[in-house]
Amino acid sequence: MTTKQKVIKINKSVKFLLLFTLLFGINNLLSAEGGPCKDYGDCDKFKYSLNDMESLQSGASTFLNYCYGCHSLQYSRWGRIAKDLQIPEDIFFENLVFDKSIKAGDLMTGAMPKDESAQWFGVAPPDLTLVSRVRGDDWLYSYLRTYYEDSSKQYGVNNLVYPGTAMPNVLAALQGNQKLICKNIPIIAKNGGEKRDSEGNALTKEKCGFLQVEEGTGSLNKEDFDKVIYDLTNFLVYVGEPSKASRERIGWYVIFYFLIFTALSALLYREYHKDYH
Ligand code: HEC
Repeated sequence: MTTKQKVIKINKSVKFLLLFTLLFGINNLLSAEGGPCKDYGDCDKFKYSLNDMESLQSGASTFLNYCYGCHSLQYSRWGRIAKDLQIPEDIFFENLVFDKSIKAGDLMTGAMPKDESAQWFGVAPPDLTLVSRVRGDDWLYSYLRTYYEDSSKQYGVNNLVYPGTAMPNVLAALQGNQKLICKNIPIIAKNGGEKRDSEGNALTKEKCGFLQVEEGTGSLNKEDFDKVIYDLTNFLVYVGEPSKASRERIGWYVIFYFLIFTALSALLYREYHKDYH
């Protein structure tokens, strides 16, 4: 290869690298637009615990009582959920399955006819089997807690994470009436401290968009309501990938096995090497 050819070749790879960086950058910019949780800003963090049976059972119960009337879980079977969540089948069917013709092997195809519900709500309530994987756990956990009163909307509510959602606030009786309020917050100066007037009083400005539940309007306090949504989200994470817990457990065994195996083969290698010297 002549020097000239070499220069051309290098040039080409530099151009490719530039193009790659540019495309990647544009992609990042686009996805950052508006933040992942829209008007709410950053989503609240959610950490699933798939070995916590109590939480999963409570989530399943909330789902079947409050959500299954509209949303199906069409890739899950009733019996599998009872088994994975360690609920004896007779207790599960007696307390959580309202249609008595359903059998353990049936798919959870939903209770609502799709065409009619599309007419009622404008959009048919989507199947939620994979929603935790499409939207993400953080999104789900935030979405279900950010409904607020908005009289301009069909159901009198709107949502910060999913503005204009066609879903009514089905858990309002538990949470209470949540409103957007304004607060006076301290003005922060450029150096990071609070701004004060000549007499030393902190200067404030009005900022709106904070969520606040009207006291006494819901049957649960904030902590208990957050726990209900935690369990519900946990359940939807489980439904999105039922073998996630065992996959993660087996992963540890595999790593453990590799460590032992590496140690054994290192010992064996040393043993063989002795013969060369
Ligand atoms: C009265 C019917 C109804 C009930 C009950 C209901 N939903 Fe919905 N849900 C809807 C409709 C309609 C939509 C579509 C909203 C849209 O796209 O504007 C929706 C959308 C959603 C979405 C967004 C899905 C996506 O990716 O766009 C989630 C998540 C969700 N519902 C969760 C729940 C949970 C959890 C419950 C139970 C606490 C529940 N829903 C109860 C009607 C309902």
